[in-house]
Amino acid sequence: MTTSTKPPVQGAAPQGAHDVDSASRAVREMFTSIAPRYDLLNHVLSMNIDRVWWNRTARTFSHILSRSDAKILDLCCGTGDMTFALRRRAGGANPKIFGADFSHAMLERAAQKSLGTTLQWIEADALRLPFPDDSFDLVTSAFGFRNLADYDAGLREIVRVLRPGGEAGILDFSEPGGLMGKIYRVYFKHVLPKIGTLISGVRGPYAYLPASVERFPEPDEMRARMKHAGFSDASWTPYTFAIAGLYRAKK
Ligand SMILES: C[S@@+](CC[C@H](N)C(=O)[O-])C[C@H]1O[C@@H](n2cnc3c(N)ncnc32)[C@H](O)[C@@H]1O
Repeated sequence: MTTSTKPPVQGAAPQGAHDVDSASRAVREMFTSIAPRYDLLNHVLSMNIDRVWWNRTARTFSHILSRSDAKILDLCCGTGDMTFALRRRAGGANPKIFGADFSHAMLERAAQKSLGTTLQWIEADALRLPFPDDSFDLVTSAFGFRNLADYDAGLREIVRVLRPGGEAGILDFSEPGGLMGKIYRVYFKHVLPKIGTLISGVRGPYAYLPASVERFPEPDEMRARMKHAGFSDASWTPYTFAIAGLYRAKK
């Protein structure tokens, strides 16, 4: 039973997209177009809170990251900052950590930033992962899942590649309530798209960002979808006045 006030959606729907394939294509083109400025924009627009969120998410999974036999996948890894947070938290245990994304340009930046590490980057669509069933102990995704063109298919794919007992952590934006929510919405809908467009030189993505958060299922509905996809114990922990939050679940 959910208390969501939003109509259920299949997944992300950038302007002009009319089905799952065209939505995926539009998302990939959008991230490829902003890849050269993505890191700078991220830090400016989030005032560096993103670093706190990635580290907090990594800390949540310390019990898996501290196992040297663990296999970890960071989905929609972009330029790799969530993946690096996992790596730092793992320390000397040195488990196998993969970052996967379908934008070649984003992965190129991740690879440049990770020279000398054991991280492995894979160019792959989160809806069709090139991994066998039961491959990973942990699958994370930071600010990527919301961009999938089919949320249920994305969840099923995460369940498929997780080992029984494996865990998932999906970090993404949310919509804070109350006065904080009102102030934040002005920033997110009106200020952020202007700064984003100015720095990146590309208009679409920073108008798409607030629209995609508005469209994304609310926590109750996401938890219900996670259970339906085959997860148990689905929970949501708000971060920083619920501007973002972490979904956590087990296979
Ligand atoms: C907002 S960025 C997040 C990057 C990184 N995780 C972070 O926290 O900075 C979203 C990323 O998701 C990727 N993405 C979106 N849909 C995808 C899909 N279906 N398969 C693989 N990657 C996808 C995009 O290419 C982009 O790099």
